[in-house]
Amino acid sequence: MGQPLTVGIVGCGAIAAQYLRTIGRLPQVRLVAVADLDPERARATARPYPGVEALGVAELIADPRIQVVLNLTVPAAHAEIALRAIAAGKDVYCEKPLAATSQDARRVLEAAREAGVRVGCAPDTVLGTGTQTARAAIDDGLIGRPVAATATMMTPGHERWHPNPDFYYAPGGGPLLDMGPYYVSSLVTMLGPVSTVIGAAGRTRAKRTIGSGPRQGEEIPVTVDTHVTGVLVHESGALSTLVMSFDAVATQAPNIEVHGEQGSLVVPDPNHFDGPVLLTRLGEDAARELPVSAGYTEAGRGVGLIDFLSDREPRAGGTLAFHVLDVMESLLASAHAGRSVDVESTCERPATVTLSNPATRGQGGVA
Ligand SMILES: NC(=O)c1ccc[n+]([C@@H]2O[C@H](COP(=O)([O-])OP(=O)(O)OC[C@H]3O[C@@H](n4cnc5c(N)ncnc54)[C@H](O)[C@@H]3O)[C@@H](O)[C@H]2O)c1
Repeated sequence: MGQPLTVGIVGCGAIAAQYLRTIGRLPQVRLVAVADLDPERARATARPYPGVEALGVAELIADPRIQVVLNLTVPAAHAEIALRAIAAGKDVYCEKPLAATSQDARRVLEAAREAGVRVGCAPDTVLGTGTQTARAAIDDGLIGRPVAATATMMTPGHERWHPNPDFYYAPGGGPLLDMGPYYVSSLVTMLGPVSTVIGAAGRTRAKRTIGSGPRQGEEIPVTVDTHVTGVLVHESGALSTLVMSFDAVATQAPNIEVHGEQGSLVVPDPNHFDGPVLLTRLGEDAARELPVSAGYTEAGRGVGLIDFLSDREPRAGGTLAFHVLDVMESLLASAHAGRSVDVESTCERPATVTLSNPATRGQGGVA
């Protein structure tokens, strides 16, 4: 193995623990430092990991030991942190969405191109065995020509469990920009890019009440749509129907189904790395579970960092993330305009992931 990839985390909030766990299991990745607007939060995050430093944000971004800045801040800060890291000559891997607006995301990608650095972006869940096995089934012709898909995410909203849920109800948030990246990335991975969208959206309440933590009971404003539906017309002609909602109590609908002329697939939750892929072929009565055939096994958030070790564009990459953000923004624009909207961007389907386990237990880079 060559030199490990050196990483610095900016943003030590709720999701950081999952990245720390993954990096701890990836011998090819080493965490050097963490930073946060709140220095005490950075110190508390670094404390269990001897050798990992708590730095100021500017200090971390300037640190010559760090190759990739892992940007785990809130969506409104994604572009600012990414641009600062790029200006310092670092690669950036950003939590989703790539930026709060496609305009900001475009600035990030252009700056990276000019600086000769690379941009990766969550979700890397679609590199797991769930979406990858479904994609392999489609590519192997098991459902014939894909014609349609459904993608459904319906919950009452994250304010019930997240102690600081403000960003979920501000620009860059809402069910579409928060959870849509998982679903749209999975759909694009399986069915290719989207050319046109038709949307409709609603907003049930002007305020939400925080349900946990020190701010429990506090009301926060809602400035985004909280129920977004629509149709994505893929360049291939396949039609995906999307429902993303923070206004529903529960659903029994599968997260994703893909339908082809010869068969239908149930695809597992794209917010997770794995899960059963079910196939029903035309003429068969019951679905059967497909053997796992592609993707990273035992993966966790952060596994997408591995691609920075090669010269490739990360598969959880900026071009895909930009297209996904463009699709989501176009869907909202369509909903507000009451007509279909063409999606300006496009992307290649990211390269497939061979069935493999990227981690070697106990050899992590943070412990
Ligand atoms: N919480 C989850 O379950 C979850 C799951 C998947 C993805 N995400 C994504 O991860 C990102 C972070 O979410 P979270 O839940 O951890 O949020 P959070 O509010 O818990 O944490 C964000 C952290 O970033 C810090 N921060 C904000 N702006 C900053 C700046 N300019 N410079 C330095 N630090 C800054 C905050 O102080 C905070 O500690 C979001 O993009 C979110 O969509 C969250």
